[in-house]
Parts: sequence; C-alpha cells; structure tokens
Amino acid sequence: MHKLQTLLDNNIKWADSITQEDPEFFKRLSEAQSPEYLWIGCSDSRVPANEIVGLLPGEIFVHRNIANLVVHTDFNCMSVIEFSVKVLKVKHIIVCGHYGCGGVKAAVDNTSHGLIDNWLYSIKNLYYRNKYRMDSLTTEEARHNYLCELNVIQQVKNVAHSHVVQDAWSKGQDLTIHGWIYSLKDGLVNDLGVDIHSPEDLADEYRVTNPVQE
Ligand code: CO
Repeated sequence: MHKLQTLLDNNIKWADSITQEDPEFFKRLSEAQSPEYLWIGCSDSRVPANEIVGLLPGEIFVHRNIANLVVHTDFNCMSVIEFSVKVLKVKHIIVCGHYGCGGVKAAVDNTSHGLIDNWLYSIKNLYYRNKYRMDSLTTEEARHNYLCELNVIQQVKNVAHSHVVQDAWSKGQDLTIHGWIYSLKDGLVNDLGVDIHSPEDLADEYRVTNPVQE
C-alpha cells in the first residue's frame, strides 16, 4: 500500500475517534472558530503547535515559517497577525521557538544556502549585535541555544511593534505577546518571561502614537 494511503486511513480513524467522543464537534467547528491564541512557530516537523500544548482543532490559530520569524514586510505573517487580532480577537500571541533550530544554525554558519539566506538575514544581524555576549559562552551548543532564545525575544518585539497590535491596544483590546522556547530533547516548553501587554512595555522609538484610524 502506498504510504499516503496510510495517512488517509489515519484521518478516518482520527475523525471517527473525535466524533465518538463528541458527536457535535465537527458540526460546531464548521460553523465558526473562536481561538484565544495565535501561535507563531517554526515549520520544523518536530514542533507541532496543537500537540505540544494539548489543544484541539479550533482552539489555536497557527502561523509557522522557518525559524519563527516575524518580518514586517512579510504579508503572509502580517496578514495572519491582522486577522487574528482584528477578527478573531485572540488574547494571546505566542512566539514559540525551539532549541536545535536548523534555521537559526544556518543563519550564522557562514555558508550559502540559497534563497533562505535572505529570509534568515535578520538572525545573522541579531548574532552580530550580541557577539560579545555570544562569544563569552564556552560551547557551540550554549551559543546556539542563546541565539535561539534571543531570536524569540526579538520576534516578540517585532509582533508588539506592529501597527496592528498597537492599534488594538489603543482601542483597549486585551492582548499579550509571549515568548516561549521548546526543547526537542524533552518535549517541554520554557516560558522566557518576556511578555509584552501594552505600549508602555515598548521602547519609545517603537511606539506608534497615532495608530491608523479606520
Ligand atoms: Co526551527
């Protein structure tokens, strides 16, 4: 049997098991979604959003790309953030990176990987800006782990600096941005404790004093 058939068979079993547990589940979900969370994570197959935090379909809106980057000129990611904040009115945006991220490694290994180098460029800048601290770490693994954490922290700021998020805050919307990191070694998530929940948490230079009016 072709391997893909296994996936389709798995799908039938999965849908069946959910329906057994909750006969109205799919009917309810097909009518609307109202997730409270937006997850921005890495595309890495070992970091599946729903499974890690034990949430069912309908409970978390998800955007994933290589190295969980939030780039303001990326219409894909910014559209996801806009839809989540303005329409779904999520209360939490979680940027979740992971140790052992191939994207983070590729950004600083001084070899050419093609198109992806452009995507990962901001991580190289992050490394360069923190070179002094990075170089004081004694092992390659420690340096890599630290850069993975710095990358998450920067992306949390990038989300918070966006006009969409600042506009939501100006309208009194309850919205917090969180930075988490996942360990492939034990499956556990570590909260980096860098929550941002209002413009007061931002450096003055990044505050938008006159958010775009509708
Ligand atoms: Co990754």
